[in-house]
Parts: sequence; structure tokens; C-alpha cells
Amino acid sequence: MEALLSEENFYKMTDYIYRKTGIFLELDKHFDKLSKYIEARCKVIGADSFRKYFYTLRFDDKDGSEFQALVNGMTVNETYFYREKEQFEVLVNRILPELHQMKPKGQALRILSAPSSTGEEPYSMILHILEEARIVDERDIEVVGIDIDSTVIEKAKLGKYSDRAIHAIPPGVLAKYFKKRTLGYDLIDDLIGTVDFKLANIFDRGDMRKLGKFDVIFSRNMLIYFDDASRKEVAMTFYDMLNPGGYVLLGHAEYMSRITSVFKAKKIESTLIYQKQSFYRRNNMPLVIFVDDSETALASTRMVTDSMPITVKQYLSAVDALNEIKGGMIPDLIITDMNMPVMNGFEFLQGVRAHPSTARTPVLMLTTETRDELKVQGKALGLTGWVVKPFNPAQLKQAISRVLRLA
Ligand SMILES: C[S@@+](CC[C@H](N)C(=O)[O-])C[C@H]1O[C@@H](n2cnc3c(N)ncnc32)[C@H](O)[C@@H]1O
Repeated sequence: MEALLSEENFYKMTDYIYRKTGIFLELDKHFDKLSKYIEARCKVIGADSFRKYFYTLRFDDKDGSEFQALVNGMTVNETYFYREKEQFEVLVNRILPELHQMKPKGQALRILSAPSSTGEEPYSMILHILEEARIVDERDIEVVGIDIDSTVIEKAKLGKYSDRAIHAIPPGVLAKYFKKRTLGYDLIDDLIGTVDFKLANIFDRGDMRKLGKFDVIFSRNMLIYFDDASRKEVAMTFYDMLNPGGYVLLGHAEYMSRITSVFKAKKIESTLIYQKQSFYRRNNMPLVIFVDDSETALASTRMVTDSMPITVKQYLSAVDALNEIKGGMIPDLIITDMNMPVMNGFEFLQGVRAHPSTARTPVLMLTTETRDELKVQGKALGLTGWVVKPFNPAQLKQAISRVLRLA
């Protein structure tokens, strides 16, 4: 019998695995693991050479079970409850309340755990939601867990966990939601089925499309097994799967900014979260929105902003601009006229401040009026500054540059 796994065959195999799963195996780190796996597998299927095994895998695997066995043998499924627990705190205390305000009533908030492994991560979300989220009575929350490894998905559905898996759960929470067994712990029956577990490959577009859209995606400790090209592909898949304004959370060793700029990073205490930008920014330049009921006024500001490193969106009506903000648009700067029909500048400012994603966004008011009482009112409503009309191009340019700290 020829040596089962030569260096050349290692590369054949790992190239095949990489193309189908994104998992990137390296000669010095993974040769022994793959070699042992193939030897064991050859015994099971009665293959006496690498060639026969590889042929079976590629051409004789009608139901995909040989490939599934290989995937199951090669994945690293390490996980436990409350791993990097600050992220669950940010989810329940910051992200969900914000999305609850943004999303129309009656629609569920949907969270994806990709990958979920044996379920500890999505069930940690459920435990935090039950213990801490104040919105549970007003809003349906759906949690879906996916993984490419069929053994972990089957285990996740059972809800049976080892002592190690539960070690970081606070005792009170453990006592409330788990039953002690001789070995390990079972989730209580009421919790089984609260996460919808599915076998799915992140690189399979069909699998992903079937899952639908989400408001939050946790993808922790999977991208570390991929190379840059695959990470980029996964980031774009998440972008497509997220609703506007939705968030991605990665593991502590994974950074979206190294992969793509289509998400805006936000830091909440020590936790980095990435928000989908709902409006396309030219070369990721800051988004400045102008609101003015006069087309002529908008045209003259356009002459100033065309030469600036910013992305501009203009609105003739404050109502339309506010609706886009409510739909997920997150501008970096808002410049609005004061006197407008239907909704004036102050009313618009109130709406902007009431919305969680623009509560602190800088707002400049364009006006011909300079009365002191207006300045007092503007300050009370959280206005950032005034640009007095008529302004010359240099003044407007300077005001925008100062707020956005452009060079
Ligand atoms: C280390 S676990 C991370 C589990 C959990 N997110 C955590 O951080 O505790 C990595 C998981 O990624 C899964 N995985 C690897 N490649 C995948 C792919 N292409 N699609 C879906 N899941 C994948 C593996 O099966 C494994 O269970």
C-alpha cells in the first residue's frame, strides 16, 4: 500500500477542503491530523490508497456523506457558555434596545450565530435575553444557529452539556435553566428548541439565502481558520444577510476593519461591534446629508461639497430624511435648513435626536435668523452649530471640515 498522505496529496486534499469550506489547513500544523483522519477513513470504506479515497470523495459521494465525515473530522469546535461574555451584555443592553426602537412593531428581531458549534453561544444569548433584556414582552426575538459540522448541530439540538461547557455560567442562572445529571447538565425542557439549529456552510449561497435576513450576526472564532480571501467573502455574505443598521460581532482575535470597510466600527466599552452602513459611501468617505426645501439652495451647497472628500445626500423634505434615518441610514453630519414647510429645522432636529443611531450625530442649522432665543432653543435641543445665510463657499467648507475633522 502506497504511503497514504504524501506532501503532494496533502496539498490536493487541503485545496479541495479550502474550496468547499474556506477552512485553510497548513502543512506544518495540520499534516498529522489529516493523515490520521484519512487512514482511519480508508479502513472504514475499504480504500487501500489515497487515490481511491480521493476518488470516492470527489466522484462517488452521491449523498455527500463522505465529504460531511471529512468536514466533521477537520473542524475545531471549541466553545463554552458565556465565552467573551461582555458581547452578550452589549447585545442585550445596547444593541437589542436600539434595534427595537428602529424596527417596525410586529416584526421579530432575528439573531444568527454563525457558527454555533454545539450551541453554547446561541443559548448564552437566550439566557442573557431571558435574564436581562427588558424588551422581551414587547418584541419577538428569534435565534438561529448554523454550523458546517453535522455532529455539533445534532448535539446542539439535544441540549446536553459537560461540566466544562457550563463552567462560566453564574450559579443562579445555572440552577434556573439546567438540570444536573450524573455527568454534566441538561438544558431545561422549556429552553430546548428556543434556538433553531441548522446544518449550513457559510460559503454555500443557497444555504445562506434560505436563512433569510438578520438584525444581528455573531460570528466568533471561525474567521481565524480562513484566509483573507475567504474572510472577505464571508464579510460580504453577512453584509447581504443583514437588515440596514444591523450589527456583526466577531471573536476577540478577529477584526472587520482588516477585511472590509462596508461596516462602521463602534466601540462600546471594550467591545467592538460593526454596523452595516445602509447608504453607500464613496470610498468610505463620511456621509453628510443636506435638508433644504429650496432646490436652488441645495444646488449651491453642492458646488461647495463636490470638491470635498465626503459623500453627500440631499433631501428637499425633512420628513423624507427622517424616514431614511429611521430605515437605517446613519449620517456622519446633518446640515439642515431652519424654515421649511411640514417639518421645520427644530422639529427635524428633535426627530434626529430621538433616534438612537443619530442621538449624537452632529447637526448644523442653516438660517438667516440669528435671534438669541433661537440659539437658546437650538442648544436645548442638542444642536451642534449654526451656519448663517447668506454664507460664502469658504464658510460652509470650513464648518463641515471642522465638524468632521477633515484636514
Ligand atoms: C471554534 S468554533 C466557534 C464556536 C462559537 N462561535 C464560539 O466562538 O464559541 C468554530 C466552528 O466553525 C465551524 N465552521 C468552520 N467552517 C465553517 C463553514 N464554512 N460554515 C459554517 N461553519 C463553519 C466549525 O464547524 C466549528 O464548529
